[in-house]
Order: sequence, then C-alpha cells, then structure tokens
Amino acid sequence: MEKTLVIIKPDGVERGLIGEIISRYEKKGLKIVACKMIKANREILEKHYAEHKGKSFYEDLMNYMMGGKVLVMVLEGNNVIQLIRKMHGSTNPIDADMGTIRGDFANKTTENIVHASDSKESAEREIMIWFS
Ligand SMILES: Nc1ncnc2c1ncn2[C@@H]1O[C@H](COP(=O)(O)OP(=O)(O)O)[C@@H](O)[C@H]1O
Ligand SMILES: [Mg+2]
Repeated sequence: MEKTLVIIKPDGVERGLIGEIISRYEKKGLKIVACKMIKANREILEKHYAEHKGKSFYEDLMNYMMGGKVLVMVLEGNNVIQLIRKMHGSTNPIDADMGTIRGDFANKTTENIVHASDSKESAEREIMIWFS
C-alpha cells in the first residue's frame, strides 16, 4: 500500500487545527500508520527541504518551521500521495481551491499549514528522514 509523509506545520498546530485536519484524512479512508509531535531542528529541516536551499523564501521557511511544534505523520492508502496533495490544495493559498485545507484555512504562501510528499521518491526519502 502506498505511503506518504505529512506534516501539520507550526501554524496548524498553534491554531488548533490538528483535529480538523486529521479528521479529513480519516473520513477519506486514509490510515495513520505513524505519528509524532516534535519541535524540528535546523538539521532535519535542511534535509527535508534540501531542494529549496538557496531560494528566496528558504530562510523564512526554516524559521517558520522551527517556530513551534509540528505533527509528523505517515499516511497509508490507495494513491495516497496524489490524494493528499489534492486535499491540501495549491502551495499559494490564492490558488488553492475552497474545500482544500489550504483553500479553507491559509492566507499566506509560507504559512500554509500542511506539507505532503510530492512523489514516491520524495515520500520514501522523507519517511526515512523523519522516522528512521
Ligand atoms: N514563493 C514562496 N514564498 C514563500 N514561501 C514559499 C514559496 N514557495 C514555497 N514556499 C514555502 O515552502 C514550502 C515548500 O515549497 P514547495 O515544495 O514548492 O510547496 P509544497 O509544500 O506545496 O510542496 C511551501 O509549502 C511553503 O511553506
Ligand atoms: Mg514540496
């Protein structure tokens, strides 16, 4: 069964959206197979966001992700990687459809509440980073 890595980012945790978000995954029939709440350090975030190093938003992204606790999960289900990306909506909340998590709850591109792996390769890599 396919697996993906999901993070409820510090704004999602701080705003009390954990229950709302997890409930959407469960109602969709997806299974949480691992879950932990941690304060991420720079080292793990640099690995996780290696593809974005050097981009204009990278330092803001690091500081935001270190700014509070995150809930990191592995979700399992049929086509879960694509499904979760669809349920989260576009990266920029202006482009995210209403009914998606970002469309419903976010208004900034950096603080956009959730992360999900974007491919099988990313999912494998990210699960190793957070749950090895
Ligand atoms: N142009 C941007 N300005 C500010 N923050 C950004 C921008 N692009 C991406 N980010 C932040 O970096 C994260 C990782 O970017 P990316 O991998 O492109 O998006 P996604 O999380 O949708 O896969 C985004 O979720 C967002 O928090
Ligand atoms: Mg991404």
